[in-house]
Amino acid sequence: MHQTPTHALPSYLDADHLGPWGTYLQQVDRVTPYLGALGRWAETLKRPKRALIVDVPVELDNGRIAHFEGYRVQHNTSRGPGKGGVRFHQDVTLPEVMALAAWMSIKNAAVNLPYGGAKGGIRLDPRGYSQAELERITRRYTSEIGVIIGPSKDIPAPDVNTNAQIMAWMMDTYSMNEGSTATGVVTGKPVALGGSLGRVEATGRGVFVVGCEAARDLGIDVAGARVIVQGFGNVGGTAARLFHGVGAKVIAVQDHTGTIYNEFGLDVPELLVHVSRNGGVGGYEHAQALDPAEFWKLETEFLIPAALEGQISSANAGDIRAKVVVEGANGPTTPEADDILFDKGILVVPDVVANAGGVTVSYFEWVQDFSSFFWTEDEINHRLERIMRDAYAAVSQVAREHKVTLRTAAFIVACTRILQARQVRGLYP
Ligand SMILES: NC(=O)c1ccc[n+]([C@@H]2O[C@H](COP(=O)([O-])OP(=O)(O)OC[C@H]3O[C@@H](n4cnc5c(N)ncnc54)[C@H](O)[C@@H]3O)[C@@H](O)[C@H]2O)c1
Repeated sequence: MHQTPTHALPSYLDADHLGPWGTYLQQVDRVTPYLGALGRWAETLKRPKRALIVDVPVELDNGRIAHFEGYRVQHNTSRGPGKGGVRFHQDVTLPEVMALAAWMSIKNAAVNLPYGGAKGGIRLDPRGYSQAELERITRRYTSEIGVIIGPSKDIPAPDVNTNAQIMAWMMDTYSMNEGSTATGVVTGKPVALGGSLGRVEATGRGVFVVGCEAARDLGIDVAGARVIVQGFGNVGGTAARLFHGVGAKVIAVQDHTGTIYNEFGLDVPELLVHVSRNGGVGGYEHAQALDPAEFWKLETEFLIPAALEGQISSANAGDIRAKVVVEGANGPTTPEADDILFDKGILVVPDVVANAGGVTVSYFEWVQDFSSFFWTEDEINHRLERIMRDAYAAVSQVAREHKVTLRTAAFIVACTRILQARQVRGLYP
C-alpha cells in the first residue's frame, strides 16, 4: 500500500521563516487552479531539483583565513540547462537563492528561452574586500560549484554585486579545471572574452521596452511621464537613462545611500556620473534629499523597483500612487502587496517578464559562444525588443482571457510550459 507523504515542506526549510521562498510557493498555489490536468505535476515546482551549499575558505590580504558560505541552486531543468545569476550579498540565504532560482525557471519559460532555472550566491558584502580577495573568493566558489555547472548543465551570470570581471574569473577557473577554454559556462562576460554586445544594459532595456508596452495599453504617453526608480545600479540606472532619453521625467531615485527628488526631472546622465564617482545617489547636488519612506508616496506614472526583493509590502503598498509598477528587481512585491496594488487598479508588470531582458541577451551570448559567430549590437537590441514585446503580448493576452493579473498570467504561461516538458519527459527511472 503506497502512502502519500504528509510533510508539505522539505526538511531543510523552516515553515516559520520561509522568506522569499514562501512568496514563491504562494505564487505557485495561486496558479495551480489554472493548470488543468498538469496540476498533477505542480509539486515539482515546489522543490528545487538540486541545492548545493559550499564553504569558501580564502586567505585575506592581511593573512587572516576567512570562510564564506556559498550556494548554487538548480530549481528545474525540465526545459534545458539551469540558468541564473550569482549574487554577492551579506544577507543571502539558501531559501532566498532557492526562490531566485525558481523565479528563473518561471522567467525562462515565460519568455520561452530553452533553459531551466538556477541561481547562486555568496554571503558577503563585497565592498569590504579588495579586488585580489574578491578574485580568490570567486575562484574558490567556482571550483566548489564546478561539479554541477557547465555550458550544457548550468550557466551562471551576473546579479547583484557581481559583474563582467567576476564572470571572467569564473570562466577562467572553470576552464582551468576542465583543461579547455569554455566560454559558454557563464554569460555576462567581457566582450573580449566571448561576451555579447548589449548584455550590460539588456535588463534595463527590457524594463524600458515592457514599460512602454504597458503605457500603450493604458494610454499613457511616455514622453513627459513621471518615473521613480528604486536601485540605481545596472538595471535601475539603465532603465532610468532610457526613459529619460525619450523625454520621460525621472523625478526620484532611491538607493542604499539615500533618496533624491526633483519634481522637474533629474538629469539622469549627470546622475549616473555622480554615482560612478561617489558609489550612490546620496549627496547629488541638483535634487533634494527625501526621507526614504516618502519615496513610495510620490505621485508618478511609473514606479520601477530595481534593488532587492520584498521592497513593496503591505507596509507601503497602500501609499503607492503609480499607474504602472515595472519590476526590474526580482521579487520586489509581496503577495499581500500584489493584492493591494490590484485593488487600487495599479498595473504590475511582473519581474519574470519585466526583467527578462538580461537572461534573453545571456541566451544570445551563449548561442554566439557555441557558434563562435558574433552579432552586432543593433541586431541584439532588435531581437531583444521583439522577444520582450512578444512575451508581454502573450502574457497580457492570457491575463485578459482569465481575468487575472499579469503575474498570474505569466505564471500560467510559464508553469504550463515547464510541466508540459516534465510530463512528456516522464520520470526517470
Ligand atoms: N543585472 C541583471 O542583468 C539583472 C537581471 C534580472 C534581474 N536583476 C535584478 O535587478 C535587481 C538589481 O540588480 P542590478 O544588477 O541592477 O544590481 P546592482 O548591484 O547594479 O544595483 C543594485 C542597486 O540597488 C541599490 N540598493 C541596494 N540595497 C538597497 C536598499 N536597501 N534600498 C534601496 N536601494 C538599495 C544599490 O544602491 C544599487 O543602486 C536585483 O533584484 C537583481 O536580481 C538583475
